Amino acid sequence: MTGGEVSGALLREFASVVGDAHVLTGDATAGYAVDWTGRFRGHAPAVLRPADTGEVAAVLGLCREAGVPVVPQGGNTGLVGGGVPNHGEVVLSLARLDRLGPVDADAAQVTAGAGVSLQRVADADPALDLGVLIASRGSATAGGAIATNAGGLRVLRYGPMRAQVRGVTAVLADGTVVSHLAGLVKDNTGYDYPGLLAGSEGTLAVVTAARIQLVPRPAGLVTVIIGLGGPGEAHELAREALRTVRGLLSAEYFTRAGLDVLAEHAGLVPPLRDPVPAFLLLEAAGPGADDDLAAVAGDRPVAVGTTAADRARLWACRERHPEAAGFLGVPLKLDVSVPAAHWARLASEVGAVARSADPGAQVISYGHVADGNLHVNVVPAAEADGRHEDAVFGFVASLGGSISAEHGIGALKARWLPLARSAQERALFARIRAAFDPDGILNPHVLPR
Ligand code: MLT
Ligand code: ZN
Repeated sequence: MTGGEVSGALLREFASVVGDAHVLTGDATAGYAVDWTGRFRGHAPAVLRPADTGEVAAVLGLCREAGVPVVPQGGNTGLVGGGVPNHGEVVLSLARLDRLGPVDADAAQVTAGAGVSLQRVADADPALDLGVLIASRGSATAGGAIATNAGGLRVLRYGPMRAQVRGVTAVLADGTVVSHLAGLVKDNTGYDYPGLLAGSEGTLAVVTAARIQLVPRPAGLVTVIIGLGGPGEAHELAREALRTVRGLLSAEYFTRAGLDVLAEHAGLVPPLRDPVPAFLLLEAAGPGADDDLAAVAGDRPVAVGTTAADRARLWACRERHPEAAGFLGVPLKLDVSVPAAHWARLASEVGAVARSADPGAQVISYGHVADGNLHVNVVPAAEADGRHEDAVFGFVASLGGSISAEHGIGALKARWLPLARSAQERALFARIRAAFDPDGILNPHVLPR
């Protein structure tokens, strides 16, 4: 289903639901039509900003009746073009669903509107934290993080967003509201549709609120950056840390190439004097964290942070990596994962693989080494016509890996889904999708049917 213009009559009907001020058209839609990387630039005939679940339901009912396709949008921090109107869809912004309920201290849970930022969820109670930590947490929203099953910097400890979700309220494409927010830990009463909506990229239903499990706030945090010879050593040390560091929260890889760009363009101060080619950031909490981490580092060059300021300075070296490629051009964000045994080969060879398709391409890689995940950021010199994805995803598939570890399929990877999923699996996806959204109005160009 392709979008385009919507009639004046339909715009007036939208306005009767959400109010004139929350039906945006023309120039007012510009910020909603382009993604964070600048690679995906679409056009929205209208941006609708409902205030609550009832308004979302009414708006979706109108869109379905009129056959108007819809792209749901949270904080618009996605990296695969899944939340912008690439085909002239109406944008349904969930930003105004920003009510955060009281923390249920007994269950360590909170109910958050889809538009609540992850930072607000994390700050809801000083003794508790959100298990998902991503660099865009100030803008990324609960609804968006569920729809994309966001991963991030603490997956090795707490799992991705799906693992934090105890229930949702969601609106189906025909305006039906389904809700299951009791937050019960044990509840075997049928299909786990909140789990199914996590990672569905806005194709099955629109999540409007979620019951989120919080975790005890980690205390006594110690962060180290260890200088290394290359990806093989990073992989080896991360495995060792997983085995020996009791309070391990993060194991993050990045390289001198990315750090040099950030030093030049963002004024970042390199954490080590030694001119090492690769780095492993480890973070751990609790008693003995400093000794455990020191034992992993051994006699390698290491920078240690225990105060909030020092830890923030070290984390900036990793957390600002998503920006690095953007200083060189408009990047392709290729987020891939492979079985643990192949991660070092992936990280060592992927630059050359990308350059075999485009010799002038610049490649910056970083990622979550303990999850077998690598973010391959490619700034093309040649036309971005799919050659880079063909090369990198083909290599990843040959290693038994996935073309999307945590960012989703979106628009960027839709063409390559058959590399990751069989015809039988895709047929099952299509049947699930048809059951939720028979008219195909929800994000029709993402995870293609
Ligand atoms: C990260 O790990 O920094 C995020 O997934 C964002 C990115 O890959 O650029
Ligand atoms: Zn990541």
